[in-house]
Amino acid sequence: MQVDVLLGLQWGDEGKGKIVDVLCPQYDLIARFQGGPNAGHTLEFDNKKFVLNTIPSGIFHTKTLNLIGNGVVIDPIILKRELDNLKAAGFDPVGAGKLVLARKAHLILPTHQLLDAASESKMGDGKIGSTLKGIGPTYMDKTGRNGLRVGDTTLPDFKERYEKLKEKHLNILSHYGEVPDFKEREEAFLAAIEFIKSIPHVDSEHLVNQYLKEGKKVLAEGAQGTLLDIDFGSYPFVTSSNTTTAGACTGLGIAPNKIGGVLGIFKAYCTRVGGGPFPTELDNEVGEKLRQLGHEFGATTGRARRTGWIDIPALKYAIMLNGVTELVMMKADVLDTFETIYACTHYKHDGEVIDYMPYDINSIKPEPILEEIEGWNQDLTGIRTKEEIPTALANYIAYLEKALEVPIKYLSVGPDRTQTIILK
Ligand code: GDP
Ligand code: IMO
Ligand code: MG
Repeated sequence: MQVDVLLGLQWGDEGKGKIVDVLCPQYDLIARFQGGPNAGHTLEFDNKKFVLNTIPSGIFHTKTLNLIGNGVVIDPIILKRELDNLKAAGFDPVGAGKLVLARKAHLILPTHQLLDAASESKMGDGKIGSTLKGIGPTYMDKTGRNGLRVGDTTLPDFKERYEKLKEKHLNILSHYGEVPDFKEREEAFLAAIEFIKSIPHVDSEHLVNQYLKEGKKVLAEGAQGTLLDIDFGSYPFVTSSNTTTAGACTGLGIAPNKIGGVLGIFKAYCTRVGGGPFPTELDNEVGEKLRQLGHEFGATTGRARRTGWIDIPALKYAIMLNGVTELVMMKADVLDTFETIYACTHYKHDGEVIDYMPYDINSIKPEPILEEIEGWNQDLTGIRTKEEIPTALANYIAYLEKALEVPIKYLSVGPDRTQTIILK
Protein backbone atom coordinates (compact mmCIF):
# COMPACT_ATOMS: atom_id res chain seq x y z
CA MET A 1 0.00 0.00 0.00
CA GLN A 2 1.10 3.56 -0.69
CA VAL A 3 0.11 7.00 0.56
CA ASP A 4 -1.87 9.22 -1.79
CA VAL A 5 -1.22 12.94 -1.50
CA LEU A 6 -3.61 15.81 -2.18
CA LEU A 7 -2.08 19.26 -2.40
CA GLY A 8 -2.56 22.73 -3.86
CA LEU A 9 -0.80 23.71 -7.09
CA GLN A 10 -1.27 27.47 -6.80
CA TRP A 11 -0.97 29.92 -3.88
CA GLY A 12 -3.34 28.10 -1.55
CA ASP A 13 -7.13 28.13 -1.06
CA GLU A 14 -7.66 25.92 -4.09
CA GLY A 15 -10.40 23.96 -2.28
CA LYS A 16 -8.31 21.22 -0.64
CA GLY A 17 -10.64 20.88 2.34
CA LYS A 18 -13.68 20.26 0.16
CA ILE A 19 -11.98 17.57 -1.92
CA VAL A 20 -10.41 15.75 1.04
CA ASP A 21 -13.91 15.58 2.53
CA VAL A 22 -15.30 14.24 -0.77
CA LEU A 23 -12.57 11.59 -1.15
CA CYS A 24 -12.43 10.67 2.53
CA PRO A 25 -14.79 7.63 2.32
CA GLN A 26 -12.10 5.95 0.18
CA TYR A 27 -9.50 6.27 2.96
CA ASP A 28 -8.81 4.88 6.44
CA LEU A 29 -6.52 7.69 7.53
CA ILE A 30 -6.30 11.39 6.62
CA ALA A 31 -3.02 13.02 7.65
CA ARG A 32 -2.04 16.69 7.62
CA PHE A 33 1.71 16.90 7.02
CA GLN A 34 2.79 20.57 7.18
CA GLY A 35 1.71 24.12 7.88
CA GLY A 36 -0.42 25.08 10.82
CA PRO A 37 -3.37 27.35 11.56
CA ASN A 38 -2.33 29.64 8.72
CA ALA A 39 -4.50 27.19 6.76
CA GLY A 40 -8.25 27.58 6.46
CA HIS A 41 -9.90 24.56 4.82
CA THR A 42 -13.60 24.98 4.12
CA LEU A 43 -16.13 22.16 3.89
CA GLU A 44 -19.82 22.43 3.11
CA PHE A 45 -22.47 19.73 3.38
CA ASP A 46 -26.11 19.46 4.50
CA ASN A 47 -26.36 23.28 4.52
CA LYS A 48 -23.55 23.46 7.08
CA LYS A 49 -20.20 25.13 6.63
CA PHE A 50 -17.02 24.43 8.59
CA VAL A 51 -13.56 25.98 8.41
CA LEU A 52 -10.73 23.81 9.74
CA ASN A 53 -7.31 25.26 10.58
CA THR A 54 -5.32 22.43 12.11
CA ILE A 55 -7.66 19.46 12.04
CA PRO A 56 -7.58 17.27 8.91
CA SER A 57 -10.60 17.48 6.64
CA GLY A 58 -11.58 13.84 7.19
CA ILE A 59 -13.12 14.64 10.54
CA PHE A 60 -16.75 14.49 9.39
CA HIS A 61 -16.64 10.84 8.34
CA THR A 62 -17.18 8.23 11.02
CA LYS A 63 -14.78 5.50 9.95
CA THR A 64 -11.70 7.60 9.23
CA LEU A 65 -8.86 8.34 11.63
CA ASN A 66 -7.30 11.83 11.39
CA LEU A 67 -3.66 12.49 12.15
CA ILE A 68 -1.97 15.84 12.73
CA GLY A 69 1.51 14.86 11.56
CA ASN A 70 4.96 15.73 12.86
CA GLY A 71 5.48 18.32 10.09
CA VAL A 72 2.57 20.45 11.34
CA VAL A 73 2.97 23.31 13.80
CA ILE A 74 0.18 23.42 16.37
CA ASP A 75 -1.28 26.36 18.23
CA PRO A 76 -2.96 24.61 21.18
CA ILE A 77 -5.37 27.52 21.67
CA ILE A 78 -6.60 27.33 18.08
CA LEU A 79 -6.76 23.52 18.12
CA LYS A 80 -8.86 23.63 21.31
CA ARG A 81 -11.15 26.27 19.79
CA GLU A 82 -11.60 24.19 16.65
CA LEU A 83 -12.55 21.16 18.73
CA ASP A 84 -14.88 23.20 20.96
CA ASN A 85 -16.64 24.59 17.88
CA LEU A 86 -16.99 21.11 16.39
CA LYS A 87 -18.42 19.83 19.67
CA ALA A 88 -20.96 22.65 19.72
CA ALA A 89 -22.00 21.56 16.21
CA GLY A 90 -22.41 17.95 17.33
CA PHE A 91 -19.04 16.49 16.30
CA ASP A 92 -16.65 15.15 18.92
CA PRO A 93 -13.66 13.60 17.16
CA VAL A 94 -11.65 13.27 20.37
CA GLY A 95 -14.47 11.53 22.22
CA ALA A 96 -14.97 9.29 19.20
CA GLY A 97 -11.26 8.42 19.09
CA LYS A 98 -10.88 9.87 15.58
CA LEU A 99 -8.09 12.36 16.14
CA VAL A 100 -4.47 11.78 17.08
CA LEU A 101 -1.48 14.13 17.35
CA ALA A 102 2.11 13.46 16.40
CA ARG A 103 4.40 13.70 19.42
CA LYS A 104 7.02 15.30 17.21
CA ALA A 105 4.81 18.15 15.97
CA HIS A 106 6.05 21.54 17.16
CA LEU A 107 4.06 23.95 19.31
CA ILE A 108 3.29 27.57 18.47
CA LEU A 109 3.81 29.71 21.59
CA PRO A 110 2.10 33.07 22.21
CA THR A 111 5.53 34.69 21.82
CA HIS A 112 5.94 33.09 18.36
CA GLN A 113 2.93 35.13 17.29
CA LEU A 114 4.40 38.29 18.79
CA LEU A 115 7.63 37.63 16.86
CA ASP A 116 5.67 37.11 13.63
CA ALA A 117 3.85 40.43 14.12
CA ALA A 118 7.02 42.29 15.12
CA SER A 119 8.96 40.97 12.12
CA GLU A 120 6.14 41.85 9.71
CA SER A 121 5.68 45.38 11.06
CA LYS A 122 9.42 45.98 10.73
CA MET A 123 9.35 45.05 7.02
CA GLY A 124 6.93 47.78 6.00
CA ASP A 125 6.13 47.58 2.28
CA GLY A 126 8.24 44.46 1.79
CA LYS A 127 6.21 42.47 4.30
CA ILE A 128 5.25 38.88 3.49
CA GLY A 129 1.61 39.41 4.40
CA SER A 130 1.84 36.54 6.87
CA THR A 131 -1.31 35.29 8.56
CA LEU A 132 0.34 36.37 11.87
CA LYS A 133 -0.25 32.95 13.37
CA GLY A 134 3.40 32.56 14.38
CA ILE A 135 4.20 30.04 11.65
CA GLY A 136 7.60 31.40 10.53
CA PRO A 137 9.06 31.86 14.04
CA THR A 138 7.88 28.38 15.09
CA TYR A 139 9.57 26.69 12.11
CA MET A 140 12.66 28.83 12.84
CA ASP A 141 12.81 27.40 16.34
CA LYS A 142 12.27 23.91 14.92
CA THR A 143 15.21 24.14 12.52
CA GLY A 144 17.18 26.16 15.09
CA ARG A 145 16.69 23.20 17.48
CA ASN A 146 15.02 25.26 20.19
CA GLY A 147 11.40 24.27 19.65
CA LEU A 148 8.89 22.66 21.99
CA ARG A 149 7.03 19.62 20.75
CA VAL A 150 3.68 18.02 21.58
CA GLY A 151 5.50 15.17 23.33
CA ASP A 152 7.24 17.63 25.64
CA THR A 153 3.93 18.63 27.21
CA THR A 154 3.87 15.44 29.30
CA LEU A 155 7.43 15.83 30.59
CA PRO A 156 7.82 16.96 34.23
CA ASP A 157 9.94 19.96 33.22
CA PHE A 158 7.64 21.24 30.45
CA LYS A 159 6.95 24.51 32.29
CA GLU A 160 10.68 25.23 32.67
CA ARG A 161 11.28 24.50 29.01
CA TYR A 162 8.44 26.82 28.11
CA GLU A 163 9.81 29.62 30.32
CA LYS A 164 13.27 29.22 28.80
CA LEU A 165 12.01 29.55 25.23
CA LYS A 166 9.71 32.41 26.21
CA GLU A 167 12.64 34.28 27.76
CA LYS A 168 14.62 33.86 24.56
CA HIS A 169 11.70 35.28 22.58
CA LEU A 170 11.22 38.20 24.96
CA ASN A 171 14.86 39.03 24.58
CA ILE A 172 14.53 39.19 20.79
CA LEU A 173 11.24 41.08 21.04
CA SER A 174 12.79 43.77 23.21
CA HIS A 175 14.92 44.75 20.20
CA TYR A 176 11.77 45.51 18.21
CA GLY A 177 10.35 47.84 20.87
CA GLU A 178 7.84 47.50 23.68
CA VAL A 179 6.51 43.96 24.12
CA PRO A 180 2.69 43.85 24.04
CA ASP A 181 0.92 42.33 27.03
CA PHE A 182 0.17 38.65 26.40
CA LYS A 183 -0.79 37.47 29.89
CA GLU A 184 -4.29 36.43 28.86
CA ARG A 185 -2.99 34.56 25.84
CA GLU A 186 -0.40 32.84 27.94
CA GLU A 187 -3.05 31.66 30.39
CA ALA A 188 -5.15 30.36 27.50
CA PHE A 189 -2.06 28.66 26.06
CA LEU A 190 -1.21 26.85 29.30
CA ALA A 191 -4.85 25.76 29.72
CA ALA A 192 -4.91 24.52 26.12
CA ILE A 193 -1.69 22.56 26.73
CA GLU A 194 -3.52 20.67 29.50
CA PHE A 195 -6.39 20.09 27.09
CA ILE A 196 -4.26 18.65 24.26
CA LYS A 197 -2.86 16.09 26.65
CA SER A 198 -6.30 14.44 26.40
CA ILE A 199 -5.78 13.81 22.66
CA PRO A 200 -3.76 10.63 22.02
CA HIS A 201 -0.12 11.34 21.12
CA VAL A 202 1.42 9.03 18.53
CA ASP A 203 4.58 8.55 16.51
CA SER A 204 3.24 9.43 13.08
CA GLU A 205 5.99 7.52 11.28
CA HIS A 206 5.01 4.26 13.00
CA LEU A 207 1.29 4.86 12.71
CA VAL A 208 1.32 5.61 8.99
CA ASN A 209 3.71 2.78 8.10
CA GLN A 210 1.68 0.34 10.20
CA TYR A 211 -1.46 1.40 8.34
CA LEU A 212 0.27 0.74 5.02
CA LYS A 213 1.52 -2.65 6.21
CA GLU A 214 -2.03 -3.61 7.10
CA GLY A 215 -3.22 -2.66 3.61
CA LYS A 216 -5.12 0.40 4.82
CA LYS A 217 -5.51 3.49 2.68
CA VAL A 218 -3.88 6.79 3.66
CA LEU A 219 -4.41 10.26 2.20
CA ALA A 220 -1.94 13.03 3.05
CA GLU A 221 -3.63 16.47 3.10
CA GLY A 222 -1.51 19.43 2.10
CA ALA A 223 -1.92 22.97 3.31
CA GLN A 224 -1.06 26.22 1.50
CA GLY A 225 0.04 25.66 -2.12
CA THR A 226 3.09 24.72 -4.15
CA LEU A 227 3.89 28.33 -5.05
CA LEU A 228 4.18 29.09 -1.31
CA ASP A 229 6.77 26.30 -0.77
CA ILE A 230 9.76 27.46 1.28
CA ASP A 231 12.25 26.17 -1.33
CA PHE A 232 10.42 26.54 -4.63
CA GLY A 233 7.86 29.28 -4.04
CA SER A 234 8.37 32.97 -4.75
CA TYR A 235 10.83 33.38 -1.87
CA PRO A 236 10.67 35.26 0.47
CA PHE A 237 6.92 35.60 -0.20
CA VAL A 238 6.29 32.04 0.89
CA THR A 239 5.31 30.08 3.97
CA SER A 240 7.91 28.31 6.11
CA SER A 241 7.30 24.67 5.20
CA ASN A 242 7.63 22.37 2.20
CA THR A 243 4.14 22.32 0.75
CA THR A 244 5.14 19.87 -1.98
CA THR A 245 4.93 16.05 -2.09
CA ALA A 246 8.39 15.79 -0.52
CA GLY A 247 6.91 17.55 2.52
CA ALA A 248 4.52 14.61 2.99
CA CYS A 249 7.54 12.28 3.41
CA THR A 250 9.24 14.37 6.09
CA GLY A 251 5.99 15.62 7.59
CA LEU A 252 4.63 12.14 8.29
CA GLY A 253 7.65 9.85 8.28
CA ILE A 254 7.13 7.93 5.05
CA ALA A 255 9.76 6.94 2.51
CA PRO A 256 9.54 8.46 -1.00
CA ASN A 257 8.83 5.05 -2.54
CA LYS A 258 5.68 4.86 -0.39
CA ILE A 259 4.08 7.77 -2.27
CA GLY A 260 1.29 6.59 -4.58
CA GLY A 261 -1.08 8.92 -6.42
CA VAL A 262 -0.55 12.66 -6.22
CA LEU A 263 -3.71 14.70 -6.69
CA GLY A 264 -2.94 18.26 -7.69
CA ILE A 265 -5.73 20.73 -7.11
CA PHE A 266 -6.17 24.10 -8.82
CA LYS A 267 -8.81 26.73 -9.43
CA ALA A 268 -10.14 27.37 -12.96
CA TYR A 269 -8.54 30.80 -12.41
CA CYS A 270 -6.00 31.86 -9.79
CA THR A 271 -5.79 33.67 -6.44
CA ARG A 272 -3.15 34.76 -3.97
CA VAL A 273 -3.44 36.31 -0.53
CA GLY A 274 -0.57 38.27 0.97
CA GLY A 275 2.42 39.88 -0.77
CA GLY A 276 4.59 38.63 -3.62
CA PRO A 277 4.55 38.20 -7.40
CA PHE A 278 1.39 37.18 -9.25
CA PRO A 279 1.99 37.50 -13.01
CA THR A 280 -1.64 37.01 -14.11
CA GLU A 281 -3.13 39.29 -11.46
CA LEU A 282 -6.12 41.37 -12.53
CA ASP A 283 -6.00 44.53 -10.52
CA ASN A 284 -9.16 45.85 -12.18
CA GLU A 285 -12.92 45.32 -12.40
CA VAL A 286 -12.51 41.85 -13.92
CA GLY A 287 -10.42 40.84 -10.90
CA GLU A 288 -13.07 42.35 -8.64
CA LYS A 289 -15.75 40.32 -10.43
CA LEU A 290 -13.76 37.11 -9.83
CA ARG A 291 -13.32 38.09 -6.17
CA GLN A 292 -17.03 38.71 -5.64
CA LEU A 293 -18.30 35.69 -7.58
CA GLY A 294 -15.68 33.38 -6.04
CA HIS A 295 -16.11 34.84 -2.53
CA GLU A 296 -12.37 35.27 -2.52
CA PHE A 297 -11.89 36.40 1.05
CA GLY A 298 -9.52 34.47 3.33
CA ALA A 299 -11.06 31.62 5.35
CA THR A 300 -8.59 32.32 8.19
CA THR A 301 -7.98 36.06 8.10
CA GLY A 302 -10.93 37.42 6.08
CA ARG A 303 -8.47 39.33 3.86
CA ALA A 304 -9.47 40.00 0.26
CA ARG A 305 -7.64 37.56 -2.02
CA ARG A 306 -5.92 38.87 -5.13
CA THR A 307 -7.38 37.33 -8.29
CA GLY A 308 -6.22 36.63 -11.83
CA TRP A 309 -6.33 34.24 -14.78
CA ILE A 310 -5.02 30.70 -14.72
CA ASP A 311 -1.23 30.51 -15.07
CA ILE A 312 -0.11 27.47 -17.10
CA PRO A 313 3.70 27.88 -16.67
CA ALA A 314 3.18 28.08 -12.91
CA LEU A 315 0.92 24.99 -12.95
CA LYS A 316 3.44 23.04 -15.04
CA TYR A 317 6.14 23.92 -12.53
CA ALA A 318 3.95 22.74 -9.65
CA ILE A 319 3.09 19.50 -11.48
CA MET A 320 6.78 18.79 -12.05
CA LEU A 321 7.76 19.47 -8.44
CA ASN A 322 5.02 17.27 -7.01
CA GLY A 323 4.90 14.39 -9.50
CA VAL A 324 1.19 15.03 -9.95
CA THR A 325 -0.64 12.00 -11.36
CA GLU A 326 -4.18 13.41 -11.48
CA LEU A 327 -5.65 16.89 -11.45
CA VAL A 328 -8.69 18.37 -9.76
CA MET A 329 -10.19 21.58 -11.18
CA MET A 330 -12.14 23.73 -8.72
CA LYS A 331 -14.56 26.63 -8.88
CA ALA A 332 -15.37 26.35 -12.59
CA ASP A 333 -18.79 27.84 -11.71
CA VAL A 334 -17.15 31.15 -10.79
CA LEU A 335 -16.49 31.67 -14.52
CA ASP A 336 -20.13 30.96 -15.49
CA THR A 337 -20.92 34.53 -16.54
CA PHE A 338 -17.72 35.30 -18.45
CA GLU A 339 -18.14 35.55 -22.24
CA THR A 340 -14.42 35.00 -22.62
CA ILE A 341 -11.81 33.67 -20.23
CA TYR A 342 -8.03 33.73 -20.54
CA ALA A 343 -5.13 31.40 -19.84
CA CYS A 344 -1.53 32.52 -19.47
CA THR A 345 0.62 30.30 -21.69
CA HIS A 346 4.00 32.08 -21.45
CA TYR A 347 5.60 35.16 -19.97
CA LYS A 348 7.35 37.99 -21.76
CA HIS A 349 10.56 39.11 -20.12
CA ASP A 350 13.20 41.43 -21.61
CA GLY A 351 11.68 41.03 -25.07
CA GLU A 352 12.03 37.26 -24.74
CA VAL A 353 9.21 34.74 -24.46
CA ILE A 354 9.70 32.25 -21.62
CA ASP A 355 7.59 29.39 -20.30
CA TYR A 356 8.95 29.12 -16.75
CA MET A 357 8.91 31.22 -13.59
CA PRO A 358 12.17 33.19 -13.58
CA TYR A 359 14.39 33.33 -10.47
CA ASP A 360 14.06 37.10 -10.18
CA ILE A 361 10.29 37.06 -10.61
CA ASN A 362 9.92 39.33 -7.56
CA SER A 363 11.70 42.22 -9.21
CA ILE A 364 11.17 41.80 -12.96
CA LYS A 365 7.39 41.29 -12.97
CA PRO A 366 7.11 39.20 -16.18
CA GLU A 367 4.20 40.11 -18.44
CA PRO A 368 1.72 37.27 -19.03
CA ILE A 369 0.94 36.19 -22.61
CA LEU A 370 -2.74 35.35 -22.59
CA GLU A 371 -4.71 33.04 -24.82
CA GLU A 372 -8.39 33.78 -25.31
CA ILE A 373 -10.81 30.97 -24.51
CA GLU A 374 -14.53 30.88 -25.16
CA GLY A 375 -16.64 30.98 -21.99
CA TRP A 376 -19.58 28.60 -21.45
CA ASN A 377 -22.05 31.23 -20.28
CA GLN A 378 -24.10 28.74 -18.36
CA ASP A 379 -24.89 28.00 -14.73
CA LEU A 380 -22.83 24.96 -13.75
CA THR A 381 -23.84 24.73 -10.11
CA GLY A 382 -26.67 22.26 -10.76
CA ILE A 383 -24.80 19.82 -12.99
CA ARG A 384 -23.68 16.51 -11.48
CA THR A 385 -22.54 14.36 -14.41
CA LYS A 386 -19.90 14.76 -17.09
CA GLU A 387 -22.59 14.33 -19.74
CA GLU A 388 -24.08 17.67 -18.69
CA ILE A 389 -20.85 19.61 -19.14
CA PRO A 390 -21.26 22.35 -21.79
CA THR A 391 -19.03 22.06 -24.87
CA ALA A 392 -17.06 25.22 -24.15
CA LEU A 393 -16.13 23.90 -20.68
CA ALA A 394 -15.26 20.48 -22.13
CA ASN A 395 -12.98 22.34 -24.56
CA TYR A 396 -11.35 24.27 -21.67
CA ILE A 397 -10.76 20.99 -19.79
CA ALA A 398 -9.26 19.36 -22.92
CA TYR A 399 -7.11 22.45 -23.54
CA LEU A 400 -5.69 22.33 -20.00
CA GLU A 401 -5.11 18.57 -20.10
CA LYS A 402 -3.15 18.99 -23.32
CA ALA A 403 -1.08 21.86 -21.93
CA LEU A 404 -0.46 20.24 -18.54
CA GLU A 405 -0.09 16.65 -19.77
CA VAL A 406 -1.99 15.25 -16.78
CA PRO A 407 -5.65 14.13 -16.75
CA ILE A 408 -8.25 16.16 -14.86
CA LYS A 409 -10.07 13.58 -12.77
CA TYR A 410 -12.53 15.70 -10.80
CA LEU A 411 -14.35 18.94 -11.52
CA SER A 412 -15.92 21.08 -8.80
CA VAL A 413 -18.89 23.32 -9.61
CA GLY A 414 -19.79 24.68 -6.18
CA PRO A 415 -18.70 24.59 -2.54
CA ASP A 416 -20.99 21.74 -1.47
CA ARG A 417 -19.82 18.15 -1.20
CA THR A 418 -22.38 17.12 -3.82
CA GLN A 419 -21.19 19.69 -6.38
CA THR A 420 -18.38 17.44 -7.56
CA ILE A 421 -18.18 15.64 -10.90
CA ILE A 422 -16.03 12.59 -11.63
CA LEU A 423 -14.58 13.10 -15.11
CA LYS A 424 -12.44 9.95 -15.42
P1 GDP B 1 -8.45 25.32 0.92
O1 GDP B 1 -7.64 26.18 1.84
O2 GDP B 1 -7.65 24.83 -0.24
O3 GDP B 1 -9.17 24.20 1.62
O4 GDP B 1 -9.56 26.28 0.31
P2 GDP B 1 -10.44 27.40 1.11
O5 GDP B 1 -11.45 26.70 1.92
O6 GDP B 1 -9.55 28.36 1.80
O7 GDP B 1 -11.04 28.20 -0.10
C1 GDP B 1 -11.87 27.60 -1.03
C2 GDP B 1 -13.22 28.32 -1.01
O8 GDP B 1 -13.94 28.03 -2.16
C3 GDP B 1 -14.10 27.90 0.15
O9 GDP B 1 -14.90 28.98 0.52
C4 GDP B 1 -14.93 26.79 -0.45
O10 GDP B 1 -16.17 26.61 0.21
C5 GDP B 1 -15.13 27.31 -1.83
N1 GDP B 1 -15.26 26.30 -2.90
C6 GDP B 1 -14.65 25.09 -2.99
N2 GDP B 1 -14.94 24.53 -4.19
C7 GDP B 1 -15.75 25.39 -4.84
C8 GDP B 1 -16.36 25.39 -6.13
O11 GDP B 1 -16.20 24.48 -6.94
N3 GDP B 1 -17.10 26.49 -6.46
C9 GDP B 1 -17.28 27.54 -5.62
N4 GDP B 1 -18.03 28.56 -6.02
N5 GDP B 1 -16.72 27.56 -4.39
C10 GDP B 1 -15.94 26.52 -4.02
P1 IMO C 1 -4.58 27.14 2.89
O1 IMO C 1 -4.13 25.82 3.48
C1 IMO C 1 -3.43 30.98 1.18
C2 IMO C 1 0.18 32.87 2.80
C3 IMO C 1 0.00 34.15 3.58
C4 IMO C 1 1.32 34.83 3.28
C5 IMO C 1 2.30 33.67 3.25
C6 IMO C 1 3.06 33.46 4.55
O2 IMO C 1 -5.87 27.62 3.43
O3 IMO C 1 -4.52 27.08 1.41
P2 IMO C 1 2.41 32.50 6.93
O4 IMO C 1 1.30 32.84 7.87
O5 IMO C 1 2.41 31.08 6.49
O6 IMO C 1 3.76 32.91 7.45
O7 IMO C 1 2.15 33.41 5.63
O8 IMO C 1 1.54 32.51 2.95
N1 IMO C 1 -0.64 31.72 3.28
C7 IMO C 1 -1.72 31.25 2.66
N2 IMO C 1 -2.36 31.70 1.56
N3 IMO C 1 -3.85 29.85 1.80
C8 IMO C 1 -3.20 29.37 2.88
O9 IMO C 1 -3.48 28.20 3.44
C9 IMO C 1 -2.10 30.11 3.38
N4 IMO C 1 -1.26 29.95 4.43
C10 IMO C 1 -0.36 30.94 4.35
O10 IMO C 1 -1.11 34.88 3.13
O11 IMO C 1 1.28 35.38 1.98
MG1 MG D 1 -7.68 28.10 2.68
